[in-house]
Amino acid sequence: MRLQSNRALELFNTAQSDGLIEELDTTIIFYDLDILEQRLKTVRSAFGPSYKHSVAIKSNPLSKVLEYISKNENGLEAASFEELCLANNQEPSFTVWDSPVKTKAEIIEAEKMGGVLINADSLDELELILAHTAQSKIGLRINPQVNTGSHGSMSVSGQYSKFGEPIANRASIIEAILRHPKRITALHVHSSSQTTDYDRLCNAIRSVVDLANEINQVSAAQIETIDIGGGFPVSYEAARDFDIADYAEKLKETCPELWNGTYQGITEFGRYYHANAGFTATRIEGSKGDSENQTIITHAGADLFLREAYNPGVWPHEYSVIRAGNEVKQTLIRTDIGGPLCFGGDYIQKEVLLPKCQQGDWLFVLDTGANSFALWSRHCSRSFPKVIGFDGKAQIFKKRESIESIIGFWS
Ligand SMILES: Cc1ncc(COP(=O)(O)O)c(C=O)c1O
Repeated sequence: MRLQSNRALELFNTAQSDGLIEELDTTIIFYDLDILEQRLKTVRSAFGPSYKHSVAIKSNPLSKVLEYISKNENGLEAASFEELCLANNQEPSFTVWDSPVKTKAEIIEAEKMGGVLINADSLDELELILAHTAQSKIGLRINPQVNTGSHGSMSVSGQYSKFGEPIANRASIIEAILRHPKRITALHVHSSSQTTDYDRLCNAIRSVVDLANEINQVSAAQIETIDIGGGFPVSYEAARDFDIADYAEKLKETCPELWNGTYQGITEFGRYYHANAGFTATRIEGSKGDSENQTIITHAGADLFLREAYNPGVWPHEYSVIRAGNEVKQTLIRTDIGGPLCFGGDYIQKEVLLPKCQQGDWLFVLDTGANSFALWSRHCSRSFPKVIGFDGKAQIFKKRESIESIIGFWS
């Protein structure tokens, strides 16, 4: 289930007839909780009842969304201290904290929150956490040192990755963990995002399960939990989909210990839950060019689509053009989609096929529920757009940012 263009149009028209779209709303983010609900259920059924699932906050940190996730008995995964505070502001069933740069002051605060699984990013950080906590559950992130075949910016487990303790340091890892049999009880691995090669993903996790087995041979049942991270790929094309049950099945074959009661499995998917649950509508202010080529100017660019603008070609979306409440179905011409920022790289995508656009049309960008507005940039100090959510009915999840808020940010 994904938010297709016909449903997007229905939601947009509903929001408009409900009076939720104002003249100043030149870009609006839409998010459908029904799709999130479906995805949460799909993950549960794919992994079975023994697994615990946290959702990566970084992919979509909207409070309404975190609240929904938490109320439905899921955990939250925080990639920074600030995200940990966002999690602490909700009541998730559990919280995992995975920042790669934890400080002493942050660790002390995390300990006070209580019940957080703190995954150390290195052996040095492990010592810092041990020195400043007494109750928190502690894990160690392992870099399995594999190439999972994803785009360079999405891979976090190469030979010299900045994330995790390299598995080549096996002897030091085992020694450090065995020194604290009551404190260090989890191993963590997240090797990449958007990898379609499930074999490589599963083999990376297998290497961490082997490490846990080796530790537990010396210190019986010390490692209780294996956090397998996120990373399941999302299709940005309506005609194609990836089934997370296939991945879970392959993982079960590769790592039966994650199902047979040896270890508690935890997941941290992000993009999979959100990407296909959202779309962005942005007003077109003009079209330049001729009858075969156009460059359109919209209100969403590198501020909202950071990855698309800075990694051209890596994140293609599907689009539709709306005029007076209907999709425009005219001859398609070559189109560059420009944003509102004052620099030459401010394009969501180039060379896509769209009908000839006019001032006042709306451009829908599909599949923007994850890792788009969550990476919001302050370039040119534009207002963060209004977010309209659907849970049966349309409601404002977040107001358009005020000018006072922008002045406050820079003050
Ligand atoms: C440690 C960690 N866990 C989970 C995730 C979520 O990954 P994805 O959104 O690909 O599922 C990320 C993403 O960068 C991550 O770094």
